[in-house]
Amino acid sequence: MVGHLKHKGFFTKELMDWNRTENDREMPWKKVRDPYKIWLSEIILQQTRVEQGRSYYNSFLSQFPDIHSLAKSNDADVFKLWEGLGYYSRCKNLIHTARFISQNLQGRFPDSYESLLELKGVGPYTAAAIASFAYDIPHAVVDGNVVRVLARFFGIDSSFQDQTGKAMFQELAQALLDKNNPAEYNQAIMDFGATICKPKGALCSDCPLSKKCQALLTDRVYELPFKSKAKTKKTRWMFYIVAKYGNEVLIRLRTEKDIWQNLHEFILFESPSDLEPTEILESEKISSICKKPYILVHVSERFQHILTHQTLNMRFICIEMKQKPKSEKYHFEKWNRLKKIAFPKAILRFLENYPLR
Ligand code: ADE
Repeated sequence: MVGHLKHKGFFTKELMDWNRTENDREMPWKKVRDPYKIWLSEIILQQTRVEQGRSYYNSFLSQFPDIHSLAKSNDADVFKLWEGLGYYSRCKNLIHTARFISQNLQGRFPDSYESLLELKGVGPYTAAAIASFAYDIPHAVVDGNVVRVLARFFGIDSSFQDQTGKAMFQELAQALLDKNNPAEYNQAIMDFGATICKPKGALCSDCPLSKKCQALLTDRVYELPFKSKAKTKKTRWMFYIVAKYGNEVLIRLRTEKDIWQNLHEFILFESPSDLEPTEILESEKISSICKKPYILVHVSERFQHILTHQTLNMRFICIEMKQKPKSEKYHFEKWNRLKKIAFPKAILRFLENYPLR
């Protein structure tokens, strides 16, 4: 650790100078001091790129300008606004925490690192971001950008995935933090990682840290930070039966604790391999819900939806039923109300291109 600190003064000074003279990155949450807005932006950005997060941040703030308005809203409206962002447990925690702060803390955000950490959905990174941006508490943020900058500049090949590596990066980040300007420093290092010390296409020739950058000096810029081999992705075959009766369609709210909890879906048939639409319609599960006679009106192309840990092979089979079926699991919803209801992005992709709307 001590070895890493040889260029500590240089690192922090050059980074702050770069921020004051070169950094022109504009983002709507930058220099904001309101903890509600900072919290909202940081939850959105936890697993989302800045470019995608921007419009969600603006829509959330215009619909829910403060913590009480978010706390009072109903879950379905918040999920609808979150639609397309993925990692929906973030949205569930957002609602939970808004209600907790609004009802139990009279709407006042916690104002220490430790008390922020107790909020649902707030981990060490987010607590440090809120503490520093809102209250100038000297706590260093460590996110993917920060790990990349530090691993490259200091030539660190430990992994951030394990506990020892995590603690080491956190300690180093804390030692480098400009304690007099924590908000400015934390924003600077993230912006630096995003615009100069980029994952691919790093701008080393424009980099004010380059002359002491260990990765550059040892030609390891793209080997750092260390990444353990990616796990192989799971492949799934998912068929959705879009079962219409008149102007209504069968859907359900997903309650399972998985990535799509609180979103809706059509009738799902999952199989270990690809199947023909007729085989699916004839299956026990589908034929017990969708009774003949019906007309097969459309079968979508096969398409792939790629998530972090799985690849979904999807196909939509659309039928029009002649008799109204009864189902315990699925309920009828008017087709023209679907746009008010939250669906996973993979299903939205189908709905946006469905020719028989
Ligand atoms: N990613 C997460 N929070 C960020 C922030 N405040 N600025 C830039 N990128 C971020």
